[in-house]
Amino acid sequence: CGIVGVTGTNQSVSILIEGLERLEYRGYDSAGIYVNDQSGNDYLVKRVGRIVNLKNAITPEISGSTGIGHTRWATHGVPSETNAHPHFSNDERFYLVHNGVIENFKQLKEEYLSGVEFKSDTDTEVIVQLIDRFVVEYNMDTQAAFLKVLRLVSDDSSYAFVLMDRETPDTLFVAKNKSPLLVGVGDGFNLVASDAVAMLKQTHTFMEIQDQEIVVVKPAEILITDFDGNEMKRDTFQVEMDASAADKGTYPFYMLKEVDEQPAVMRKIVQNYLNEDGDPVVDSQLLESIKEADRIYIIGAGTSYHAGLVGAKMFEQLTNIPTEVHISSEFAYEQPIMSKKPFFIFLTQSGETADSREVLVNVKKQGWPSLTITNVPKSTLSREADYTMLLHAGPEIAVASTKAYTAQVAVEAVLAKAIGEYLKHPRAAEFDLKHQLGLVAVGMQALVDSKEKLESVASRYLSKPRNAFYIGRGTDWSVALESALKLKEISYVQAEGFASGELKHGTIALIESQTPVIGIITQDRTAGLTRSNLQEVISRGASVITIVTKHLAQTDDTIVLPDVDPLLTPLLSVVPAQLLAYYTSLGKGLDVDKPRNLAKSVTVQ
Ligand code: G6P
Repeated sequence: CGIVGVTGTNQSVSILIEGLERLEYRGYDSAGIYVNDQSGNDYLVKRVGRIVNLKNAITPEISGSTGIGHTRWATHGVPSETNAHPHFSNDERFYLVHNGVIENFKQLKEEYLSGVEFKSDTDTEVIVQLIDRFVVEYNMDTQAAFLKVLRLVSDDSSYAFVLMDRETPDTLFVAKNKSPLLVGVGDGFNLVASDAVAMLKQTHTFMEIQDQEIVVVKPAEILITDFDGNEMKRDTFQVEMDASAADKGTYPFYMLKEVDEQPAVMRKIVQNYLNEDGDPVVDSQLLESIKEADRIYIIGAGTSYHAGLVGAKMFEQLTNIPTEVHISSEFAYEQPIMSKKPFFIFLTQSGETADSREVLVNVKKQGWPSLTITNVPKSTLSREADYTMLLHAGPEIAVASTKAYTAQVAVEAVLAKAIGEYLKHPRAAEFDLKHQLGLVAVGMQALVDSKEKLESVASRYLSKPRNAFYIGRGTDWSVALESALKLKEISYVQAEGFASGELKHGTIALIESQTPVIGIITQDRTAGLTRSNLQEVISRGASVITIVTKHLAQTDDTIVLPDVDPLLTPLLSVVPAQLLAYYTSLGKGLDVDKPRNLAKSVTVQ
């Protein structure tokens, strides 16, 4: 979910709506705003679905100088107007937006709110009704009541809250635990939001909020106190991001723009991380810390996990350090037997994924060193890890991740080479990454320029079937997993990525006449074997598409990739898969950028 709040400007409605549009990647099941004009008028508007529905419901009389807004990714309660935020107390005094999950909301409801009538099924409404009860019945002031409720919320809960009280209509009461939230500092006005991107039009100056703090935000004042009432001093920081970098320009969808940006992102990574001689420019303390490690653990979710699978091979080959890759939501609760000196690499486009953060919190408790590789400077996982490497990919807005995946793979290659050289591993010294990433950028450009062909392949093979398979071995299997994820998340074709040798051990039973099977073939050692596996499915009626590296290509292959170092082929083989998914989704008339049920940044576990 995404949150935004503002106080001290008569533009508050448009700031809230635009902010929510920028945060829509965090969920789009429903949205709402509450604004107060300080003269006794206030307005609450909620709509199911996209922000545009909310925007269309705003009439000219709805205005105010202080307000809060929310875009929801449903957890407790179906997407509906009553379950949409802001939630309010029955006396309509308090209004609250929330991102996160209150794990003990049922206990709180039973213990303190028996007899209270609830309008929604949400955990959030329990919190706002509870604040109201403490204020009205126990005569507490709002901040004290808010603090009392925060203390009652169980430790395993997550929240970012922004509360408004009709009695002090210029004030936002703010707190967070685990979920992201930061303050935007303006001149005569102030903001809060889940992500700086929602506030960039108004300010580039921000202030961090830490867990277990209450922040009182007024038009010309920001007061931070800890739970014991001690006032906290906080420096501001600048985010120099261009708000227009998050616009889609003439593109019909962000995803297409982001696919097209990949060659430029590769060049940007070269500029930022490789010097004129092609040597990596990486923090030497980070290298020293990894040098001490006997094992690297890569942690990620979704596409980032897939980028980790590709990276692990680079780390093993270029550094000789054993490397494991784990899904964050699994590792958080089933930590394997660990090596003596682990080093952790967190891969996360947003830097906010709750599952990954949970692992980082545990890792820090155990005293292990960590690096976050992320696209978002100052994001939670970036702030909390010992080291950060940025992706330099520019804002990624489409829910389906594309350029962040290839940027993650490229930055992993930089790091693997840097560590390998630091450890004097010969393969790392030989690996001419600068030259190779140059070849990759040119190769990517050729692939994104072959859109027409990919569109026709998509419409011929993928528009009708309900399921499809991507297969490959080794690195190609890792890319098969990512390729299948792309297809299923935006086109709703049930797609699976399979180790091609494993298909015959069960899953081949699903192959019917014209089931699409897409083979990825980029590695010399396994090319012949995957070709045999493709023959096995052809014999059973499958429609086969191949994505093959040039020196292994045969005349009837569908898509031919330029040759690059075998460690970097994923940077090319994934591009046609991204475009096949794009055109399949487009052909079905779906909303490519905002597929159903998904959110780009998932800040609940
Ligand atoms: C969500 C997105 C995925 C993304 C995953 C991890 O599920 O829909 O596209 O890969 O989160 O996000 P992160 O920001 O940690 O890379």
